[in-house]
Amino acid sequence: MKRREFIKMQGQGLLGLGLGMAWPLGAVAESTKPIVLSTWDYGLRTNDVAWRLLSEGGSALDAVLAGAELAEMDPDNAYVGLGGFPDRDGIVTLDASVMDHGYNMGMVAGLEQVPRASALARAVMEHTPHTLLVGDGALQFAKEQGFETMNLLTPASEKAWKRWLETSRYQPGVNVENHDTMGLLGMDSQGRLAGVCTTSGMAYKMHGRVGDTPIIGSGLYVDPEVGAVAATGHGEEIVRAGGSLLVVEGMRSGLDPEEACRQVAQRVLKQLRHRGKDPALYQACFMALTKNGQYGACALQPGFTYAVQDAGQGNRLRQAPHVWSKL
Ligand code: GLY
Repeated sequence: MKRREFIKMQGQGLLGLGLGMAWPLGAVAESTKPIVLSTWDYGLRTNDVAWRLLSEGGSALDAVLAGAELAEMDPDNAYVGLGGFPDRDGIVTLDASVMDHGYNMGMVAGLEQVPRASALARAVMEHTPHTLLVGDGALQFAKEQGFETMNLLTPASEKAWKRWLETSRYQPGVNVENHDTMGLLGMDSQGRLAGVCTTSGMAYKMHGRVGDTPIIGSGLYVDPEVGAVAATGHGEEIVRAGGSLLVVEGMRSGLDPEEACRQVAQRVLKQLRHRGKDPALYQACFMALTKNGQYGACALQPGFTYAVQDAGQGNRLRQAPHVWSKL
């Protein structure tokens, strides 16, 4: 390595991170505050809800939670909340995490009967001395907090599960037509960042399985000094790579958001190859927003879309670049 390159990497802290050579920086997508980003095509809808609050001076935390709740209460969204695909026993279990600009965080995992998982994660953050509640304890806390309970298995998700039982083959494919997680990142007019991730997890997972979504640093991380990151895709691979916090650390080292996401998507690819796995069977997507309003994303393979909304350009859908393709 040339001395100049070494000095550049050292200056960016990249050597210590083990993130490898700095990538040539791509075009940086910039915005102004407030701004909200949401995962997948459905993100256009969650952005609209979040934007209503942000454009009236609301907090980033309230805004991203409102967007998440739209998806969670929509029985036709089969990937989160009410109507989410169940596990292999026919039980819908939800995971969610929330984090704000003050390093405050709350998570729930393996939650049954309560569709508003992200609001419950916020309640964990605001009303308990803990960060994560799981299973029965999370449900008990929800009831104490007055959260509504209901049967989360809708006729449509039950029908899909019964069809799956005919083969009982577990091979989740995650991509645009079959996404898995709603993640929202927001910055309000005061420059405060917040993020939320919510999911019913991988369809037909083992009962008790938890992915990346409620694991802070994997599915979500917010650092007021740097920015916010949310992940979606195969939770096991995102956890294995230490996803979201690693993207934040890439940005802290000076990478723009897209490059920081790209390096972690590359990390996922490298780990899959190391383990002899076929990348075609996996997806891992990262979406990032800096404290200065730059944003970007990158995924393992094609198909990841995310929606961006700000005052300048309105609500638009973007296709994330990828690091691997079958073609
Ligand atoms: N990314 C969501 C999950 O793996 O559960």
